[in-house]
Amino acid sequence: MTTSRRSIMDLRISRWLILFIVTAFVNSYEYISADSKWTLCLVDSVHTTQRILSLCPKLAKSPIECVIETDRFGCLRRVANGDVDITVLEPEELVAIRNYKLYSVLVTNELRLFQDDDHRFEVVAIAYKNVRRIWDVKGKRLCHPGLDTIDDWTKIFSTYFENLIIKKECDANMTLFENRMHALSNYFETACIAGPWSADTVFDHQLKSKYRNLCTSCEKPASCYNTDKYYGREGALMCLTDGMGDVAWVRLRDARVHFKAQMIDTQDYKFLCPDGTTEPLNFKEPCIWISKPWPVIVARPSNAENIARMMNSMMNRTYNWESNALQLMENYYITSTDVKELQTPDDYLRRYPNFLSANVRTGCQPSRDVRWCLVSNIEKRKCGWLRDASIVYGVEPLISCLQEDSREACVKSVQNENVDIFLARPEEILKDRMRGLKPIIHAMANNQELNRIAAIVRRNSKFRVIKDLKGAKAAFTGYRSVGWNAFITLMRNESDENWDCSDAQAVSKFFKDSCVLGWNNKDNDSELPANLYSLCKEGAEHESDDFSAFKYLASGVVDVAFVNLKVIENKTEPGDFYYEKIDTKNINRLPKYRVLGPTLAEAIKRIPYLLAWTPLGSIMAHENITDLRRQEIYTMLLEMDKIFGRKFNGQAPTFLLYGPYEENHGVIFPDGTRYLELHGHQTLKGRNYDQIVEEFMKQEVCSSAASAWITQLPETLFVYMLVIVVLNQLLNC
Ligand SMILES: *[C@@H]1O[C@H](CO)[C@@H](O)[C@H](O)[C@H]1NC(C)=O
Ligand SMILES: *[C@@H]1O[C@H](CO)[C@@H](O)[C@H](O)[C@H]1NC(C)=O
Ligand SMILES: *[C@@H]1O[C@H](CO)[C@@H](O)[C@H](O)[C@H]1NC(C)=O
Ligand SMILES: *[C@@H]1O[C@H](CO)[C@@H](O)[C@H](O)[C@H]1NC(C)=O
Ligand SMILES: *[C@@H]1O[C@H](CO)[C@@H](O)[C@H](O)[C@H]1NC(C)=O
Ligand SMILES: *[C@@H]1O[C@H](CO)[C@@H](O)[C@H](O)[C@H]1NC(C)=O
Repeated sequence: MTTSRRSIMDLRISRWLILFIVTAFVNSYEYISADSKWTLCLVDSVHTTQRILSLCPKLAKSPIECVIETDRFGCLRRVANGDVDITVLEPEELVAIRNYKLYSVLVTNELRLFQDDDHRFEVVAIAYKNVRRIWDVKGKRLCHPGLDTIDDWTKIFSTYFENLIIKKECDANMTLFENRMHALSNYFETACIAGPWSADTVFDHQLKSKYRNLCTSCEKPASCYNTDKYYGREGALMCLTDGMGDVAWVRLRDARVHFKAQMIDTQDYKFLCPDGTTEPLNFKEPCIWISKPWPVIVARPSNAENIARMMNSMMNRTYNWESNALQLMENYYITSTDVKELQTPDDYLRRYPNFLSANVRTGCQPSRDVRWCLVSNIEKRKCGWLRDASIVYGVEPLISCLQEDSREACVKSVQNENVDIFLARPEEILKDRMRGLKPIIHAMANNQELNRIAAIVRRNSKFRVIKDLKGAKAAFTGYRSVGWNAFITLMRNESDENWDCSDAQAVSKFFKDSCVLGWNNKDNDSELPANLYSLCKEGAEHESDDFSAFKYLASGVVDVAFVNLKVIENKTEPGDFYYEKIDTKNINRLPKYRVLGPTLAEAIKRIPYLLAWTPLGSIMAHENITDLRRQEIYTMLLEMDKIFGRKFNGQAPTFLLYGPYEENHGVIFPDGTRYLELHGHQTLKGRNYDQIVEEFMKQEVCSSAASAWITQLPETLFVYMLVIVVLNQLLNC
């Protein structure tokens, strides 16, 4: 933690104590009736829950009442719709909405942590005295705090300096990000830009090896981690004053503290000014490049005057409900406002021209925007907010949100390369893959919340392993459903030769009778053999859910059901499954169901054998996009996950990618999504559905079986021969 941040914390704690003591003794609430209350929208997050739980009840007799949302954009929408009266917004959100007349709100007051500072922070470029003019910077050494978004420091700030002094590069053979690093690497002799460059660690490593000079000024150039002495706010200053660099990009307040604490001779350094000149390092007259506004209170125009009046009256109150309300608003000092001259977000932001201009970005031509296909109005709206949030947090490339009528139409659009990406559900993956789409990243959840497909039988049935099921009766959730495909690939591998090349024929021969739900939805190529749905009840052609399939097992119609344990566990009693832990209360109850595995060893394990597990969804792209494009989209999604996912930075998120949107769950991303990932470090035992789909497609050789075999034969022979030749050589040595 840096010195100045520590002092902020101390300040907060001591004010807390004072407030606590004062509140404990002065307890003279006035009674306020509930219907005249202003509603204050607050964002519930891991950082704010405690505060909300303890302070909101204390507003019972105040003119303010809490309303809880999951992100700041949510609060903003509610203020704009007139659902709630007041909320606190960060400057990022103000920028995101300034162009929407639709979201008309007024800024009533500023919330300051330091009463006398107009800005939350100001950023300066400090140079060693050998730099006389801005053009001297070229070929010099740069000290940079790092590229990652931490708290109130976003890409807008970390890249501002370089964007102004270095010409933008748009080489089509590099990702946008690599273009930047390439430009930096050429411009400066060396630099220390430690810490993560990219959310993708492999790409991060590649770039750091390619543009080594951007880590050369670090203490440990080879690692260039965020543990480096010259990483971060204080690190960049030390890099400069230890003589590792000639120019440092730092916060003014940090610099003031650093130069004073380290007793560094300010004669040796200068401010580098945006107009190209340099000025003496006099902290009273700094050259500011960009500054960040404070958070503000906003309200609807019709209420704004009254709210501003109330806030003004709260200004110097450090006890009673006023202090609680201020605590809930995150900072302590409310600036007083002239209630007659309340500003729109745009007017307010004009006081920070450089902050505003930093948010205007010129893309490369041709456009690199990532076109995202959405299938409903609500998905499109949520995507629009993601786009706005991405712009103000500097996520690149930009996304554009395109709507189609159906999921099918989105798949076609990806095929035709009219859009880049689309989120597919597990059940759609095989079909999408067969049409030339490929996953770029998966929507993941905790192990227990992933889809876990298993073969369930009644506990007392005679079956011990999956092979025993030959001649039995089965229920599937659908033709080529996840369970079906998992079963097919497993059995094909197990029974090496006499397994029919048509999957429908194979299942039809293996099981005596079955119910394959929703069999009518099968594409028109051929009829399913009749015994595949002979057990189905009326209406089953329209069903495809796991619980429906499970009911065939529970009622004794079939012997085995291929279903998702995640769904079934939730709909059965605890302890119904052999593998479930049963607490002592239920000791007398026998489990009702077992899960079959391929071997007996699996059958006695307490962990159910999974025929397949799948993520909650997968973002698909055209299989033939270039590696570069894939890299660029993948990294962009990872970055969105980092900033708008569960591990967001700061007190409360601007926008939650996986949160409810307009009170609807599962908009774009399936409900329960926790993070995005391509190759997991999953601890879940069992087969990954990606692999199953790969296998399935390889084995899908029915009509052209003979020709496929013949073309593969020479290759196989060739490999054998190669192995023999190599072995011979080795033995001869
Ligand atoms: C980009 O790559 C292509 C093919 O690899 C090459 O022909 C082209 O010259 C490259 N362009 C630049 C600007 O490097
Ligand atoms: C609050 O205190 C500041 C400085 O202490 C003073 O300038 C201001 O007038 C006070 N405001 C109110 C509403 O009392
Ligand atoms: C991708 O490229 C391969 C090889 O050129 C081609 O066979 C395939 O059809 C392409 N996929 C799509 C979806 O166009
Ligand atoms: C196929 O079966 C063999 C042994 O029967 C096993 O070693 C192998 O891992 C299986 N392959 C797959 C892809 O499951
Ligand atoms: C199957 O084909 C018929 C006529 O060719 C068509 O009317 C029907 O909609 C098709 N069904 C599906 C599920 O594609
Ligand atoms: C479990 O069941 C409850 C109530 O029936 C439901 O609200 C919840 O969404 C279910 N969870 C899953 C993962 O299906």
